[in-house]
Amino acid sequence: MTEAKRETVIVIDFGAQYSQLIARRVRENHVYCTILPCYAKIERIAEIAPKGIILSGGPASVYAPGAPRVDEGIFKLGVPILGICYGMQLGCQVLGGKVTAAKSREYGRTSGTVIDPAELFADMPKELTVWMSHGDSVTEVSDDFRPLVSTASTPLASVKHKTLPFYGVQFHPEVTHTPKGTQMLKNFLTRVCACRCDWTMSNFIAESIDQVRARVGKDTVVLGLSGGVDSSVVALLLHRAIGPQLHCIFVDNGLLRKDEAKNVARNFNTALGLNLHVVDATDQFLDNLAGVDDPEKKRRIIGHTFIDVFKAEAAKIKGAKFLAQGTLYPDVIESVSAKGGPSATIKTHHNVGGLPAELGFELLEPVRELFKDEVRQIGLELGLPEAQVWRHPFPGPGLAVRMLGPVSRPALEVLRAADWIVVEEMHKSGWYRKVWQAFAVLLPVRTVGVMGDERTYENVIALRVVQSEDAMTADWVQLPYDLLGHISNRIINEVKGVNRVVYDISSKPPSTIEWE
Ligand code: XMP
Repeated sequence: MTEAKRETVIVIDFGAQYSQLIARRVRENHVYCTILPCYAKIERIAEIAPKGIILSGGPASVYAPGAPRVDEGIFKLGVPILGICYGMQLGCQVLGGKVTAAKSREYGRTSGTVIDPAELFADMPKELTVWMSHGDSVTEVSDDFRPLVSTASTPLASVKHKTLPFYGVQFHPEVTHTPKGTQMLKNFLTRVCACRCDWTMSNFIAESIDQVRARVGKDTVVLGLSGGVDSSVVALLLHRAIGPQLHCIFVDNGLLRKDEAKNVARNFNTALGLNLHVVDATDQFLDNLAGVDDPEKKRRIIGHTFIDVFKAEAAKIKGAKFLAQGTLYPDVIESVSAKGGPSATIKTHHNVGGLPAELGFELLEPVRELFKDEVRQIGLELGLPEAQVWRHPFPGPGLAVRMLGPVSRPALEVLRAADWIVVEEMHKSGWYRKVWQAFAVLLPVRTVGVMGDERTYENVIALRVVQSEDAMTADWVQLPYDLLGHISNRIINEVKGVNRVVYDISSKPPSTIEWE
């Protein structure tokens, strides 16, 4: 399927919290969905020839000065439009409706009555539970509109324009608290936009392989393989597309988990036959880190050393023209501020495994259109072992940021052994897949203990287990006491140099996931 033939739905973002969620819900229905900022030019929108447009929610009031708008030309494209919350209010305001502030903000679940199912609410019960989060609402519409759903406090909870393909919903169909929301979005995609719904990961793989082959030709591609999901999936995808023209470089920085380098070599080289260059740069990294205890300094040293090592190895690969990277969709979405312009928030990219543009390669980013869960699906389809597909995120600077104070070989041994036990027990108990990250941190304090008849004076390990959606916020996980006790016992009994284990019960914010 070529790009031109691919069915696309556009989400126009007005600074909503849920824009990415809307896009994911559309994709779950096998329709490709892309997010554009509300200030996108109409030509850019029209060029995509979308099957449908969804106007997101947003924090502003449509009647406030400077509130984000979209080029009103979109209402004349003849393309079906679904406005959600702010998007509904904006669409109604432009097409003949009045938006006013409610006496109080409506937040949470409420029940709605379907007055007229039209296409959106076809095959649904008359009474629906819907999830609201708004301060304003559409209070009047012209005769050009038909009301579809009403709730006690919002009589116009959903409307349809009689002659233009515009629909609005005041509630949020994208969240799971609106149980029929997925079906409503599906109705929009199939009954209103007439989508074929044929965007699948298998199609994506086939499409992407064609594109990579066309772009790379007979040239050579290098890839920094970290062993994480994203770079692993890119490696497999490129291997399918160009086989031996792909050279993967795996840098062992000496800060990895137990057996990591061995496993990467086994999985990618022995089992899957990829061209893999393993560089053991442990000495170089540890020498450069000697005596450094400042966390940011550690990160910088590791980042620079990685670039040096990678560059030297890549230089040995003759004729390397492209550099492949596992950039994901959330990294490239243009975010919108509450005022509708480009977002002022600066994303902190602390991806130490990143490589600078000055390396002189052309970038190849085959999964830059995908969300993480889609990348995982591709991994499964391409034969990446389950354990790799569901691996927790591991920071580029590795164990160096889980060992407070200077990095040393003996401390690395202690932390590696404790980390191994944590991961092993999380797997055994079935908790590994239920949490975002679970790991050990080696604290630079010694405490007194007693083992047998002997007094000990040894280090402390902190356990960190968190739940998160995107690492921006995180909650500590209430692991069962017996599991915590078991992990603690094993660490104290099996890891020489540790006589105490504590559990980190802080959430992010105000703490961070890693301790450094
Ligand atoms: P924090 O500690 O900032 O971590 O709450 C958020 C997520 O990012 C990971 N992390 C890093 N990843 N290089 C990386 O590639 C880094 O320097 C780094 N620092 C933190 C962390 O594991 C968590 O998933």
